[in-house]
Amino acid sequence: MNVEPVRLFFALWPDMELQQAFYQAGNKLYKGCGGRRTRRENIHLTLAFLGAVEPDRLSQITAVADRIALPRFQLVFDRLGWWRQNQVAWAATSETPRQIIDLVKALQLGLVAQGFKFDERRFVPHVTLLRKANCPPGVIDSPPIEWDVQSFALVRSTLQEDGAHYAIEKRWDLQELDSYA
Ligand code: 2AM
Repeated sequence: MNVEPVRLFFALWPDMELQQAFYQAGNKLYKGCGGRRTRRENIHLTLAFLGAVEPDRLSQITAVADRIALPRFQLVFDRLGWWRQNQVAWAATSETPRQIIDLVKALQLGLVAQGFKFDERRFVPHVTLLRKANCPPGVIDSPPIEWDVQSFALVRSTLQEDGAHYAIEKRWDLQELDSYA
């Protein structure tokens, strides 16, 4: 029996076409900022990071997500930028829809009730495109990337010699707007 802790997080997982669009935006950033590009197939948006978890807690975690009934929403990634303090370059939205905040809150509240802890930092939705980046000042223009978010996922991360590998453990559908009263 496998009793090794597993590294888990909840995320929005884009389809291949969207991953490609984000990857191209990352290439644009990379020209000015250097660093290490997120591999195309790893591109995602983290909702709630759990870290190393004992595998026997998996059912507690999936039960939290099973109880979530929230609507689909759209994200428009119209900003590329960089955080100096952690050297992460990202794509982000200039408007954060309430629905993604509600989704993160629902996950966090449910997980806290199961004994998980989250830091106090405000959730800033972003897609990490480069790590160890050092970007010049100024605005980086890029065509907006539109993402119709229809589901969220629990993802398992394993560190291998060539970096992090992610596997979707389970996916949950968000509700169609007309079925969401
Ligand atoms: P980042 O891309 O913003 O750095 C898988 O490791 C995902 O979880 C990454 O996308 C990373 O977000 C996020 N992550 C890693 N460590 C974290 C931590 N200690 N707190 C919050 N998010 C974390």
